[in-house]
Amino acid sequence: MESVTAFAPATVANLGPGFDVLGLALAAPGDTVTATRTGAPGVRITAVEGDGGVLPLEAERNTAGIAAIATLARAGVTGIGVELIVRKGLPIGSGLGSSAASAAAAACAVNLLVGSPLRKSELVGPCLEAEAAVSGRHADNVAPALLGGLILVRSVDPIDIVRVPLPDGLAIAVVTPAFELETRTARAVLPTHVPLADLVRNTANIGAMISACHSGDLGLLGRCVTDRVVAPARAALVPGAPEVIAAALDRGALGASISGAGPSVFALCRSQRSARESAGAMVEAFAAAGLAATYTISEVDCPGARQI
Ligand code: HSE
Repeated sequence: MESVTAFAPATVANLGPGFDVLGLALAAPGDTVTATRTGAPGVRITAVEGDGGVLPLEAERNTAGIAAIATLARAGVTGIGVELIVRKGLPIGSGLGSSAASAAAAACAVNLLVGSPLRKSELVGPCLEAEAAVSGRHADNVAPALLGGLILVRSVDPIDIVRVPLPDGLAIAVVTPAFELETRTARAVLPTHVPLADLVRNTANIGAMISACHSGDLGLLGRCVTDRVVAPARAALVPGAPEVIAAALDRGALGASISGAGPSVFALCRSQRSARESAGAMVEAFAAAGLAATYTISEVDCPGARQI
């Protein structure tokens, strides 16, 4: 193959209690990367589209480039030349796993370009390197962006990831206010020590959430979407977040919390219709806090990175 184009979706990380541990792939939006073989050895990014000109073109500073380089290294492929074109479908700094989607799409495209020497799960490491370079060493966006569905990251050193089944019919609403919040900034406000009582609550909610995903107990699943540790520390960074979450719950959402590092807020819902209703209420609540917002509705058991 001389050229491969791959897509990788947006992801909602944390899902309430699972900081750096849980992440879920959406159907859309996402990022697209085209990888093309060239004569001169090395990885080059020839264009980044849809980013408003803010992302670096240097491969070593862009998550798509870093993931591409790391994928070739992991596969033991040397001496070839690859050019990348990155098309951003995801807003940057939105809490939707923008850097992870670029990395996952690039890793997927480059792996296919060189004959698929690596399994998709083996691309998590290269993408984690990319994520670590720009936002922090966490795989709760890159793993679902690559593999789809709901993923639990048991460990990043060594990488140990677990697929979690999802109840039928579940839908998710994600509302994104019109401002950018860098993941680095949102991680800088986090506490270095956690009260034992909060650790107990979060641990219990993660465990019960995984059980609810297996049993299909939607009420239990919804009750588990709370976070005593990370979301409270970030509340000041996302104006109106408590009201937006309350608005979703008032409209019948099963549970709601900040998506990843924010500022997007997600709501898990029983149906697409319920998700649309919650999304409308969440957009209004952001408006009341002085923020314009857009929303997306998605099923929850969506595929990860793939050739298009
Ligand atoms: N788990 C990460 C965080 C996700 O909350 O910082 C970032 O998208």
